[in-house]
Amino acid sequence: MTEKLIIKGGNPLKGEVNISGAKNSALVVLAASILSKDDVVIKNVPDLTDVNTIIELLNYFGSKIERKSKGEFVINSRFINKNTAPYELVSKMRASFFTLGALLARFGEAQIPLPGGCAIGSRPVDIHLKGLKALGAEVSIEHGMTIVKANKLIGNKIYLDFPSVGATENIIMAACLAEGTTIIENCAKEPEVVDLANFLNSMGAKIHGAGSATITIDGVKKLHSTEHNVIPDRIEAGTFMLAAGATKGKIVVHNALEKHLESLISKMIEAGVKINIIDDKTIEVDATNTIIKPVDVRTLPYPGFFTDLQSQMVAFLSLAKGTSIVYETVFENRFMYVDELNRMGADIKTESNLAIIKGVPSLSGAPVKATDLRAAAALAIAGFSAEGETTITELQYLDRGYENFEEKCKKLGADIKRIKELPVLTY
Ligand code: UD1
Repeated sequence: MTEKLIIKGGNPLKGEVNISGAKNSALVVLAASILSKDDVVIKNVPDLTDVNTIIELLNYFGSKIERKSKGEFVINSRFINKNTAPYELVSKMRASFFTLGALLARFGEAQIPLPGGCAIGSRPVDIHLKGLKALGAEVSIEHGMTIVKANKLIGNKIYLDFPSVGATENIIMAACLAEGTTIIENCAKEPEVVDLANFLNSMGAKIHGAGSATITIDGVKKLHSTEHNVIPDRIEAGTFMLAAGATKGKIVVHNALEKHLESLISKMIEAGVKINIIDDKTIEVDATNTIIKPVDVRTLPYPGFFTDLQSQMVAFLSLAKGTSIVYETVFENRFMYVDELNRMGADIKTESNLAIIKGVPSLSGAPVKATDLRAAAALAIAGFSAEGETTITELQYLDRGYENFEEKCKKLGADIKRIKELPVLTY
């Protein structure tokens, strides 16, 4: 059975939308629950296929997981009996690699297959491994498997060559139960890293400085039970904000934290969209009289403009009056979707990590294929603003990162439906 989204464009998005828990926080917080032998309650977990994959992985390791109510899980990892992940789960979702640091800290050994490349670039894990080595782990790669072992992890000073989100998180998790103090320099400052640190601190960890370029971790002997609410998803919030901008709509976004969205807010204001901060968790986007001005964007680690909103931003800028330039500095191959936008009438040229976007007055609906998670959202934004019908296939990408996407869009007045079709057989 294949699934398609059918969007009839032209309706400005109007109304209110509630943002779900952050996928990237939920994934790492769920992975970190391995570090405690006690019950850990995690709330505001979005219902997504990526979350199901990490739950499946924890189950595989031997954690006991109970889904209490919508978005609430109780996890107990006391009786974990495996520390080797199967390739099928890691190849489905590279965030499975984020269990490496936690398993190593708890059991002194872990084996996780190398995740390999993905639709947006080669995505190596050298920085994760360098960090774990600095804590005293022996690291080897055998037959595609990363094997890490340590009789004892010992705190150390670690400088990251790039502020990798996953490496920062893996090292924090390992360092929590290490002996002595770890100092991570040039670490990622993303809100999801801060959420992980808050979660671990609520379990008795001693992590200072999360959200800044230097994180200090004083190792503790064990972590106890806790209850934690995952932060709201800034990428989902940004996607709806850009969808309102592209359709000349007016929406109120609830559970959108202004402080996590500053780079997007400033670029949208520069493009001529009115943004009203109603309170620290509520943002109104008003594009009813906006003629989108071109703006240049460079993706950067947080607090720079997030790469995970780059494709949605390009879809929005494809309707600007003038030429914008978007420079992708975080991933090497994140413009695969541009050909699909061009099939809808956009005028975008790419060269290496640059996209040159000549704005067009309107897009036209077309059958298009999602090439990755955020590309799927960008095509939906284009579809909402286009004349006529857009059909989006390869929805497995969208379902990895957007909870109740169609319902939320419909509530905002979008004409969107999902259909299931039997595959066409060719002989
Ligand atoms: C996380 C997010 C992802 C987001 C990305 C950047 C999760 C589950 N995913 O991914 O949505 O797009 O942050 O904000 O949280 N790199 C290396 N060596 C390494 C690690 C990374 O060279 O060991 C490079 C990567 O190839 C990439 C860049 O660093 O070019 C950023 O990657 P990283 O911050 O690690 O992204 P992830 O943690 O995988």
